[in-house]
Amino acid sequence: MKEFSYRGFMLDSARHFIPMEDLRKLIAAARICGMNRMHWHLTDDQGWRIEIRKYPQLTAVGAFRGRSVFGEASRTENNSGFYTQEDIREIVRFAGENGMEVIPEIEIPGHASAMLAACPEAGCRRTAYGPEGEEKAGEPWQYAVKTSGGIFPNLLCAGKPEAVRLMEDILDEVMELFPSKMIHIGGDEAMKIHWRRCPDCRARMRREGLQSEDELQRSLVLEIGAYLAEKGRETIVWNDVLSGGTLPPHFIVQQWAQGEEATRVFLAGGGRVIHSDTRVMYFDYPYGRIDVKKIWQSPQIPDWAKGYEDQLLGTECPLWTERVTNLERASFLLFPRLAAVGLKASGAGNLPWEEFRSAVRNIENLIEETGLKGAPESYWEMTEEAAKADVQAEHDRIYSAEALVFEKKEIKLIKLEKTERLMEEIGIPEPLARQVGDYALRE
Ligand code: ACM
Ligand code: ZN
Repeated sequence: MKEFSYRGFMLDSARHFIPMEDLRKLIAAARICGMNRMHWHLTDDQGWRIEIRKYPQLTAVGAFRGRSVFGEASRTENNSGFYTQEDIREIVRFAGENGMEVIPEIEIPGHASAMLAACPEAGCRRTAYGPEGEEKAGEPWQYAVKTSGGIFPNLLCAGKPEAVRLMEDILDEVMELFPSKMIHIGGDEAMKIHWRRCPDCRARMRREGLQSEDELQRSLVLEIGAYLAEKGRETIVWNDVLSGGTLPPHFIVQQWAQGEEATRVFLAGGGRVIHSDTRVMYFDYPYGRIDVKKIWQSPQIPDWAKGYEDQLLGTECPLWTERVTNLERASFLLFPRLAAVGLKASGAGNLPWEEFRSAVRNIENLIEETGLKGAPESYWEMTEEAAKADVQAEHDRIYSAEALVFEKKEIKLIKLEKTERLMEEIGIPEPLARQVGDYALRE
């Protein structure tokens, strides 16, 4: 077993705001688990949490939302709030004292509804199609800070120079606040419905000879990555970006779901990767899916990284917070699973189970001395029956009757995205394909 240099966890302050004091407690406990990187997910459809001096509307609009539906767990609790630049500096300082580097994530082009609610001019223009396929300006897209989970079609426009400029201005302030060499710019789950209809995005594709919107996303990432590289920073993206073609080796890819073949190609080109497989590392998932024993059993080096061990920087465990509204729930989900990942990342994963378990126990005891409480031992090695019940309970929390309405909308959009890709593949003329899609987009 090797020791990873990157031993990370991720906190999502967008879906639910995590108060400063809670952040400090979680960072201190993660340190006890052997973590040395905190990836801070600061922006998403449901919230913009970082003060940007040049664009105060990002927080004035993007940091607040009303009653929310994330399944049964959430109504109004911790929906709103943001970190001032002073707060951010304080967290970076506190984390540094705890041996933890903080890596910020400003997510584009998708998961950008809160950003676009504040800065709608950074979104796409929209083309409408007449009965003969003739093109004209369509109704503008409407943006709002989202009050439900899921994925949304709202993307930063890749074709307007001023939209790219907005992102660069934001990153200028982010770089002032975060000394970390690595900056995360997101890139997951960007359905391209808006880009397909945008005259500016299409003009950029023509100008650059790009064959698909996925290639356009790659081009945008290359542009922002070059901007960060000029200033001595490295860019992390979620592995979805590789759908548009591989990236040069100065990028870092975070592998979370699917696309492992493309990630292997990226590794073959010399790229570096962070391992965050949903099946082992996603700590918003219930213990019934990922218990401590499963972490112990999982291979330290996934198959797709074999032969490129030195380019696998390490592991990171995200805690997405759609249904995590308070410190108690965050602690329950993170600990002691993070201790188990920390043990494995430090090379101690090949201990026999009973010894591993008692090493986890020792770490959990230290965490409990700080006042936080992880999941009880009954969750560490679950029986099949208990695991099934736990998964069902989580399912019921997610798919409350109220949340199903939003779920249905999301499924429709995902189907539309697939259908538009298929229509292109089989050669349906663009204006006709867009009209079909527009029909499905009507409320
Ligand atoms: C992700 O979980 N959407 C990166
Ligand atoms: Zn556009």
